[in-house]
Amino acid sequence: MSEIIPVIEARGLYRHYYQGSQVVKALDGVDVTIMPGEFVAVMGPSGSGKSTFMNICGALDQPSGGSVKLDGRDLAGMSRDDLADLRNEVIGFVFQQFNLLPRTSAIANVMLPLRYAGISGPDAVALCERALTAVDLYQRMDHHPNELSGGQQQRVAIARALVTNPKLIFADEPTGALDSVTTVEVLKLFQRLNAEGMTIVMVTHDADVAAYASRCLHFKDGRIIDDVRQSERAAQ
Ligand SMILES: Nc1ncnc2c1ncn2[C@@H]1O[C@H](COP(=O)(O)OP(=O)(O)OP(=O)(O)O)[C@@H](O)[C@H]1O
Ligand SMILES: [Mg+2]
Repeated sequence: MSEIIPVIEARGLYRHYYQGSQVVKALDGVDVTIMPGEFVAVMGPSGSGKSTFMNICGALDQPSGGSVKLDGRDLAGMSRDDLADLRNEVIGFVFQQFNLLPRTSAIANVMLPLRYAGISGPDAVALCERALTAVDLYQRMDHHPNELSGGQQQRVAIARALVTNPKLIFADEPTGALDSVTTVEVLKLFQRLNAEGMTIVMVTHDADVAAYASRCLHFKDGRIIDDVRQSERAAQ
């Protein structure tokens, strides 16, 4: 039987910023393993290191010390190009402000990561249609972002994250710009994608949002002070 490889394996992670004589310890010794199929919330006060953790595990930033393995591959010593390729292959990112191109249809937004992956033509269209179907927006694929609600725009961004069939979705405050109804809509979607096997790591300030995940990491002062398994909140 083949061994199950962690999606993320962080060991002794440090990220220190030097500002004059001051040291900001954005991460101060983080050890965590995230396995395929987990739905993990990352909570903690502002400045506790949540985004730094996500950026380092997502190969967008490098640690001052310690190691990260992403899908079994050690990020240390990889070239920028190799990191970018690994990132595109393994991770889909979702952000608070959706980051959609404004004068571009939903399907064209979803297609962007495929362009970087060198996939075009009918294959690309088919993959985009599948991703938009997965977020229940097949009917709206020709709409521009300003013709969609906030929740629909975030679902387009989630389709864009899904289209390359990543191992992991990293979402930094994905519901931070949404009202309570669309927040639940997006969280239900994450739960469904997770039930279908997608690994999700979601940063949030909001304990009600974190309750939809099955595990919660609590950050404080650059460390994980609590790592709790929880039963997922049933969507209303
Ligand atoms: N480029 C930088 N230069 C200096 N300090 C930084 C830099 N980026 C982050 N920091 C500091 O590192 C610490 C952790 O920041 P981080 O963005 O990870 O926090 P966070 O938990 O995501 O906060 P928030 O909830 O406000 O998004 C903070 O004290 C922040 O000021
Ligand atoms: Mg942050």
